[in-house]
Amino acid sequence: MTKKSEIHKRDPHYKLAKKKGYRARSAFKLLEFQRRFNIYKRAFYILDLGSVPGSWLQVSKQKAEKNLELYKDQFYHRDHFKIMGADVKRVSPIEGIKTVKMDITTPEFQNEIEAFFEDELDLILSDASIKKSGIKFSDCVNQTRLCFKILDIVKKNLKSKGNFVIKCFQGEDLNKFHKSLRRLFTEVQTFKPKSSRKGSNETYLIALNKR
Ligand SMILES: C[S@@+](CC[C@H](N)C(=O)[O-])C[C@H]1O[C@@H](n2cnc3c(N)ncnc32)[C@H](O)[C@@H]1O
Repeated sequence: MTKKSEIHKRDPHYKLAKKKGYRARSAFKLLEFQRRFNIYKRAFYILDLGSVPGSWLQVSKQKAEKNLELYKDQFYHRDHFKIMGADVKRVSPIEGIKTVKMDITTPEFQNEIEAFFEDELDLILSDASIKKSGIKFSDCVNQTRLCFKILDIVKKNLKSKGNFVIKCFQGEDLNKFHKSLRRLFTEVQTFKPKSSRKGSNETYLIALNKR
């Protein structure tokens, strides 16, 4: 066993993920966002970008199923949910969820979204991450470039009042992206979850209530 995988297996979030049946420890980040910001409120149509191995899809399915029971009132609700996960790598299937093996930055991906949902989305999640080089400055530039492409997907597909969560890397370029989000959403919070690895420069932007 390599030193890295040994450390990984001793990690309490890794152990808890195994115990709870989640495919990755990242599930706990998403659960933290939910506790803090209620991102899944009235979310039935959900898109997850950069899904492999699939723990955010597992959490999303649980929350969407719960929402079908929770929101049966005169306000916005649906009687079914649709969830799609996309990654350049193959996502192992999850029953009731559509998964596509595709680069999310391509025009073909937009066709895939429209064909599946046939309507606007309630929630868009992105844990998509570039392959890190280890050089913090250029990693931040490249991750932010990816974030701007994802923002185009959000502009085209997220409904008014919809929520959006995205992984970013800390650095100068992040400010530009943060500003763009503030123009599109009434509330934008920068949030580093407790379950994020120590020493990692990742952070998340939680954008609520699209204008
Ligand atoms: C940190 S992992 C996601 C973990 C996932 N949220 C979970 O809970 O299991 C990031 C993923 O983003 C994917 N990714 C990065 N750039 C992408 C792109 N342009 N198109 C599709 N997937 C991409 C990578 O292949 C990788 O699997």
